[in-house]
Amino acid sequence: MSVHFLTPMDLTDAELELVMKRARRMKADRTPLAAKTLRVGALYFNPSLRTRVSFEQAARQIGASCQTLNAGQDLWALEMDPEAVMDGDKAECVVEAAGVLGRYFPVLGVRSFPRGGSWEEERREPVLRAFADHSKAAVISLEGAMHHPCQSLADHMTILEHFGPKLHGLKVVMSWAWHPKALPMAVPNSFALQMARAGVDLTIAHPRGLELDSELMGSVKEQSMRNGGKVEVVHDRLGAMDGAQVVYVKSWGSIGQNEVHPEELKDWCFNDMAWGRTAEAKVMHCLPVRRNVVIASSVLDSPRSIVLDQAENRMWAQAGLIEAVARRAGVLA
Ligand code: CP
Repeated sequence: MSVHFLTPMDLTDAELELVMKRARRMKADRTPLAAKTLRVGALYFNPSLRTRVSFEQAARQIGASCQTLNAGQDLWALEMDPEAVMDGDKAECVVEAAGVLGRYFPVLGVRSFPRGGSWEEERREPVLRAFADHSKAAVISLEGAMHHPCQSLADHMTILEHFGPKLHGLKVVMSWAWHPKALPMAVPNSFALQMARAGVDLTIAHPRGLELDSELMGSVKEQSMRNGGKVEVVHDRLGAMDGAQVVYVKSWGSIGQNEVHPEELKDWCFNDMAWGRTAEAKVMHCLPVRRNVVIASSVLDSPRSIVLDQAENRMWAQAGLIEAVARRAGVLA
């Protein structure tokens, strides 16, 4: 097991259990720990509200400091290719930038969405991997092209809070939604993998042509089988909802493409009619959410929605995670 946390599988079962236990305990008693000398960095190549605030507050919760950097304005223009002849507008290479940040921060969070390369290249998370390779810090993904493991950790914690410790047999539907933009697949990928690991009965509902990454789906099926769960992929938006206890609504684009979704898919908006087919499901979304496009206001404004619990749990889950990752890296006693 490497020191980094880049996918939902990058914690052992024992570590996952410990992170959840610590997160719940900190949430319950709100007592900060005393990791006073631990310095955490957070580097963003893309915008963020929840991740940025919750990651800083998570570090503070355990007594550590956290410095946030926005790549577009706080750093020199960054060259990602160590072999490049740097006679253009890029002033610093990732080798030195990551190396320097690693000297300041033993734990470094990095957010980098797909940057327009081929899917084969993007799915290997070149930016996150470059920081992991050159910084010597333990790198935590704050969302890459393939995964958003901090989000899925908080989602898992939220489901445990609402449904108790035994999730076997829980019917969880991850339902695609129309969106005016083709969004990254990191959230659905990580949620599917995390739920497979939790052993739930997972249904993934999406229109044809919006299949998730095939290798990712292989891992989801393998994890599901190993943990006593079930996975099915369906294309019937309403039929998928029968018996659902959790509905996770999320839009994503087709692999490696930036195509706008056709107007005829606009009925993939989670509304009261869709909710009426469920078994009084709790409704989840990672946020930000477009009201009345992705989820109807009437659903978001009702007690059926647990989206704010998810957002809050980003902080508690990450507090447990930073502690676990720092311990694994040998920088926290
Ligand atoms: N869910 C999530 O990661 O939100 P932000 O993009 O605002 O950080």
